[in-house]
Amino acid sequence: MSDAPILTFDTPSRLGKVVSVDTTRVLIAVENAALLPRASVGSLVAIQGTTAQEFLIGMTERVTRHLREQIAHPDPMAPTTLAMEVVPDDALRTVLLGTYRTIEGTVHNRFKRGADSFPQIDRDCFLIEGGNLQRFMGLLGKDLDPKQRLELGHFVIDHSATAIANGDRFFQRHAAILGSTGSGKSCAVSLILERAHARKHANIIVFDMHGEYASLADPPAPKEGPTSTPIAAAFKIAGPGDLTKPAENVLFLPYWLLNREEMLSMILDRSDQNAPNQASRFTLHVRDLKEGTLKSEKKHDVRATFTVDSPIPYELPELLKKLKHDDTAKGTGTTGKEVKGEWEGRLTRFISRLEAKVEDRRYGFMFKPMEAALKYDWLAKQVAKLLAPGGDKHGIKVVDFSEVPSDVLPVVTGVFARLLYDVQFWMEPEKRTPFVFVCDEAHLYLPVRDDADAVEKQALYSFERIAKEGRKYGVSLLVVSQRPSDVSRTILSQCNNFLILRLTNDQDQNVVRRLMPDSLAGVLDGLPLLDTGEALLLGDAILLPARIKLKFPTIEPLSQTRNFWQEWGELAPDSVAVVAAVETLRRQSRTASKID
Ligand SMILES: Nc1ncnc2c1ncn2[C@@H]1O[C@H](COP(=O)(O)OP(=O)(O)O)[C@@H](O)[C@H]1O
Ligand SMILES: [Mg+2]
Repeated sequence: MSDAPILTFDTPSRLGKVVSVDTTRVLIAVENAALLPRASVGSLVAIQGTTAQEFLIGMTERVTRHLREQIAHPDPMAPTTLAMEVVPDDALRTVLLGTYRTIEGTVHNRFKRGADSFPQIDRDCFLIEGGNLQRFMGLLGKDLDPKQRLELGHFVIDHSATAIANGDRFFQRHAAILGSTGSGKSCAVSLILERAHARKHANIIVFDMHGEYASLADPPAPKEGPTSTPIAAAFKIAGPGDLTKPAENVLFLPYWLLNREEMLSMILDRSDQNAPNQASRFTLHVRDLKEGTLKSEKKHDVRATFTVDSPIPYELPELLKKLKHDDTAKGTGTTGKEVKGEWEGRLTRFISRLEAKVEDRRYGFMFKPMEAALKYDWLAKQVAKLLAPGGDKHGIKVVDFSEVPSDVLPVVTGVFARLLYDVQFWMEPEKRTPFVFVCDEAHLYLPVRDDADAVEKQALYSFERIAKEGRKYGVSLLVVSQRPSDVSRTILSQCNNFLILRLTNDQDQNVVRRLMPDSLAGVLDGLPLLDTGEALLLGDAILLPARIKLKFPTIEPLSQTRNFWQEWGELAPDSVAVVAAVETLRRQSRTASKID
């Protein structure tokens, strides 16, 4: 770009002058009535600053025209009759967003966020349009280092200008993608993953609740043209059909990875009067069993400092044996007579709750792990598969949670995230490659705290910790949800960047409004009207809050909206498929068990 100023105004582009200023908003009296129809909500306006080189940039929030009657100029031929005429009072209300200088020090054409000064009354105001707009929007991404550019689409107010976010800032302090169902969230995630794939060592773990992102690892053949190349590796939390001969990409989360609280949140009934006894016996035995493993593995250094929460394998049958012993053992009275044991009968319900979980194949990924997952060295290999797969393996990992029972989904996502976060936490700082958790459908496992049950609180604990401290260790969240009002406020309020797609529900809009500075209230009013794939991008990753049209991703997620009307003309119901589905329902797994 040359050094010539990118904003140049002539008299026809002069809108009018400043008539009222408060801390965020400026009211402009429009004197050039011909320009008013060209200004709309979202249009940009330049207000002459304190020097000739400075303009304050505002975004239009409201355009108004009031009609007023006034005495017309007296007719020189009939000076005694007072004629009335109707004249328009045109006004624009704008929010101040930034400061542009044609030259600052030695740098030409500089735009920065925030107004450096408040506009003065009577200052000239101009509408930014045409060539000015094109050059100005181009300026927004210009200073970005090519290594930081995250290209998302184009600006709605100027289709020729590419919308580029600062990729570092976007992820640094958590981001959220919010929008009603069908507004284009999954496609936006796909696009961001596609952009990340272009980075050599992208490190992203996608929590895929519906198996939507499987296409990124295995792109479907398009009707025409070549098939796209995969950009991600697919993993899956073991379903009931994966327990006997699990494939290489099937993940287990054995019970011994859970810390004490996580395990108890699933097994313990807090309303049971014996709950404190049950919890304390459980804790004692698990600690002993873990210590036993450390002894036989000769891990003396770990043994010196481990806690009951350390992820160390132990045998579940051994734990049950110990608990059952407690539950049945008799005590000896002072006279040596047999009396009721100290724990006798107190653990019965705890044991049966634990056994019920162990027997249920849906919880197999946790309670029926494969043999190898009980080995001491297994954990390190498993974590390395996800955090440092090495070689030419994909850095973007899509983990399919679709077969995890919904009642334990929060614990499972929570344990998963906590484990990887803890590993990053304990890693040598200079060796950490930053990574991002993409939490799709976050309302399913990151609920508002007041509504959370014991299981959900465990997930919240893990994720809220990442939201608060993750930045320091290079761990970030990308929260995706269609119900922002059901997502933990603690987590949302830690997000610094928002991609907000069409949002129709009132409650959800209010939550989003509360997360944003007051000055953007006007901009947010347009949320229900956004087109599919259109979004407001707000936050420190972009210089101006802007309405953008997201680029359609090369590989579409499998969330395709069905065309009911068309398909009723083409797709006959298939009775064989229904019969097969009933069997799948019984099996609770899409992958048939390979029992031979
Ligand atoms: N940027 C876009 N441009 C055009 N169409 C889009 C765009 N993003 C999404 N769509 C369309 O909108 C539909 C819903 O998108 P999807 O990402 O599944 O929404 P969500 O995840 O919010 O429910 C898809 O069928 C997709 O084709
Ligand atoms: Mg979706």
